[in-house]
Amino acid sequence: MMLACASAISAAMSDAPKHTPLVFSGMQPTNTLHLGNYLGALKNWVKLQDTMPCIYCVVDMHAITAWQDPKELVRSTREVTAAYIAAGVDPARSILFNQSQVSAHAELAWVFNCVARIGWLNRMTQFKDKAGKNRENASVGLFVYPNLMAADILAYRATHVPVGEDQKQHLELSRDIAQKFNLDFGAPDFFPLPEPVIVGPGTRVMSLRDGTKKMSKSDESDNSRINLTDDADTIAQKIRKARTDPEPLPDSKDGLKGRAEAENLINIYAALADHSPETVIGQFAGAQFSVFKNALADLAVEKLTPIAGEMRALLADPAEIDRVLKSGSERALAIAAPVMAEVRRLVGFVG
Ligand code: AMP
Ligand code: TRP
Repeated sequence: MMLACASAISAAMSDAPKHTPLVFSGMQPTNTLHLGNYLGALKNWVKLQDTMPCIYCVVDMHAITAWQDPKELVRSTREVTAAYIAAGVDPARSILFNQSQVSAHAELAWVFNCVARIGWLNRMTQFKDKAGKNRENASVGLFVYPNLMAADILAYRATHVPVGEDQKQHLELSRDIAQKFNLDFGAPDFFPLPEPVIVGPGTRVMSLRDGTKKMSKSDESDNSRINLTDDADTIAQKIRKARTDPEPLPDSKDGLKGRAEAENLINIYAALADHSPETVIGQFAGAQFSVFKNALADLAVEKLTPIAGEMRALLADPAEIDRVLKSGSERALAIAAPVMAEVRRLVGFVG
């Protein structure tokens, strides 16, 4: 299900009555997180903490589906953990941990490798994009990555998964896997069919250099994205340099048709300000981009620089970050262990 607004979160809760509501989501510790990660996912994670129990994971096992320098992976795992906390994930309330510390993820992923069909995985557009022309040389892990993602969610029997728009297809696959497992092993409703929570105007933040391309960690131009670690001057400069068209801002949503860059900047403003795009259009109708960009730069600096500051403070004490991850892993394992015991029994593993 695709949700259009934040209030729809509670509506979605009623879709999973047979399972205790539980949120699970994760991000890969590869490169620095950017505005798309923040608006598409992280900002919603923080809000969801007020509505349901939440588990937030740093998915280091997903990261190694493409080569990672081991030292860089350690650094990046701590940095992403710091970003979660700095953005408002509360490790006392929510479970915050890194995936590789809980072996249930790998174990359940193996079972799911045997449940999911090659044909299903062949349809995954993210694999096609990431593997590119050199498919033969992609890691096998990259191909079965959606099975591991299904295992991440279902090891906890999580019901709600807040993500950006690009993860919708992977979540549909998770639902197919859950359904086939339940059917194959004669265990109706054992796994919930997890609901995607894709809400707000920031579910697909586009590149600042090209409004038709997603803002991405891997874009070679650093000016295409705002990193969560950028300082105030860098943020303001990137927004001023953002590509636009020569027309002033429109006075209605219809006026954004065919103007991908204008639409993107309005959506970013709306998501940062917690307003609807319509409100933002009403506020800036007829304005020149120079005026709007100054307002957007001020807003982005106001909202993002405290996060960067808090990240720096947290990263000054890596041992404390490691302690948070360890304690989160123990709490995560306590939830996954009984689920895995039941999976083993259902599959027919002795012992
Ligand atoms: P990743 O960086 O691929 O690990 O993505 C982590 C989370 O950020 C996922 O929920 C993605 O859907 C979300 N995300 C990544 N890029 C964007 C983007 N450009 N706009 C909105 N959400 C995004
Ligand atoms: N595949 C997600 C991404 O690239 C990250 C991810 C891994 C995830 N496991 C997950 C997201 C489980 C939600 C739930 O963005």
